[in-house]
Amino acid sequence: MPHRRTTTNATASALFTPHGINRAQRRTLRKQAARAEARARAAADTATGQDSAEAVFPDAVYPPAGRPGPASARGSRLTLPAHRMTTAVASGAYPFLAEGGLGADGIYIGRDLHAEGSFVFDPFALYGKVDGFTNPNLLLAGVIGQGKSALAKSLALRSVAFGYRVYIPCDPKGEWTPVAQALGGTAIALGPGLPGRLNPLDAAPRPHSVAEAEWESEVRKRRLLLLGSLARTVLGRDLLPMEHTVLDVALGIAVAQAAARARPPLLGDVAHALADGPGLDLAGGLLAGRLGDAARDLAHAMRRLVHGDLAGMFDAPSTSMFDPYAPVLSIDLSRLGAGADDTALVLAMTCASAWMEAALTDPYGGRRWVIYDEAWRLMRHPALLMRMQAQWKLSRGLGIANLMVIHRLSDLLTAGDAGSQGRALAEGLLADCSTRVIYRQETDQLPAAASLLGLTSVESGALSHLTRGRGLWKVAGRSFVVQHHLHPHEQSLFDTDARFR
Ligand SMILES: Nc1ncnc2c1ncn2[C@@H]1O[C@H](COP(=O)(O)OP(=O)(O)O)[C@@H](O)[C@H]1O
Ligand SMILES: [Mg+2]
Repeated sequence: MPHRRTTTNATASALFTPHGINRAQRRTLRKQAARAEARARAAADTATGQDSAEAVFPDAVYPPAGRPGPASARGSRLTLPAHRMTTAVASGAYPFLAEGGLGADGIYIGRDLHAEGSFVFDPFALYGKVDGFTNPNLLLAGVIGQGKSALAKSLALRSVAFGYRVYIPCDPKGEWTPVAQALGGTAIALGPGLPGRLNPLDAAPRPHSVAEAEWESEVRKRRLLLLGSLARTVLGRDLLPMEHTVLDVALGIAVAQAAARARPPLLGDVAHALADGPGLDLAGGLLAGRLGDAARDLAHAMRRLVHGDLAGMFDAPSTSMFDPYAPVLSIDLSRLGAGADDTALVLAMTCASAWMEAALTDPYGGRRWVIYDEAWRLMRHPALLMRMQAQWKLSRGLGIANLMVIHRLSDLLTAGDAGSQGRALAEGLLADCSTRVIYRQETDQLPAAASLLGLTSVESGALSHLTRGRGLWKVAGRSFVVQHHLHPHEQSLFDTDARFR
């Protein structure tokens, strides 16, 4: 608030400009003040014996107030007529505008190459806030060695700081084990001769919010779904209606027998019940006389898990309890041995994910990531896709974000012919991913990628030039090109090249 005075006070100081004087007097006083200031500065310089640093700079061409006169365009003298245009024209006039970004809430990923800012991402923070962001799932595609797993691991590692938990139901290369261990989590290794066992028929502890009877029917439903998937994978075909009934009856027998022995049911119990034709007929009641015949194929299918190449791994009480408080849990299937048709891996993955998913149903379990690394190996198995899709549909309400890593988008097309069930399931999974991150694609893959993702010609052109760690992020229809930054500790922890050096 300026001090108002009506009288002019005499003062000895040239630095003081009293009120109530006219313009000419003010100018004279200002000049005197400038001279006094210059004298004082010179005196200070001689006292210290040094020139001030500013003295070495030449005099400014213009005073600090800027270029004098109307050419300065200051004040209200420069007025241009208003110009209106459509946004389409404006984007042509200002072609170098970059996306504003997704906000600052989230996990640091790296640098947004167009906006030159940091890029953060958190599906839970965006869910419900960004238009078109209808689910927290993420699809990550790119050729080998571009840093897909490194990005997934960074997301996992950095999410732990936010209190999110991370589950890896299938790690076919065993590369997540060091990450899980470094974060204080658990990695369960399964394979012939290894001590790890998982019983996929384990019932998860009942969440407090679910009534006892409701939970019992949920557990039964999950077990049936699992048995159906396993049988379908081994048989390579859909089940007949009667076979569904057989599985249901056999599961009932196995659960009753196990309860009598006070232990959880095992796949061996189900296989045993399936092989016992008369027992099934008896338990089947009205349908007696037919079930034993229908069970024959199923009994052979189940035998593979109990006596075949997966013997022991999934047919014994679990050696690890599911720890809902562990920050990371991964299931290492690298020592399973690469079967020619991946069937062993798929069966193991089905059992392992069933075991894990049963425990993920707690709606108060907090925010969780389920990461399917190398998921392209699973694409050709509709039974597994069906399980994945069921789990994805559930996941939104449970606070679970799924991350699926594949090589090419055409991996989704290998799930079946156009119009087939496998293809529809794979395309459904893609539709269920609001976020798609595309790393470098081979040139011949660009048309498939562009049509599946609806990329513009500029976006699909950019895909073939992406370098390691750099990807096109499509987040609910918005595009970003992001360079993922690795911390040196992450770099050494995630290094998958070491094996090839
Ligand atoms: N953003 C990055 N910056 C530097 N190096 C990276 C980056 N992303 C990945 N790498 C390195 O590249 C190698 C291959 O990465 P990886 O994630 O295994 O590839 P992919 O899973 O796509 O086959 C790893 O050794 C990793 O350390
Ligand atoms: Mg990888």
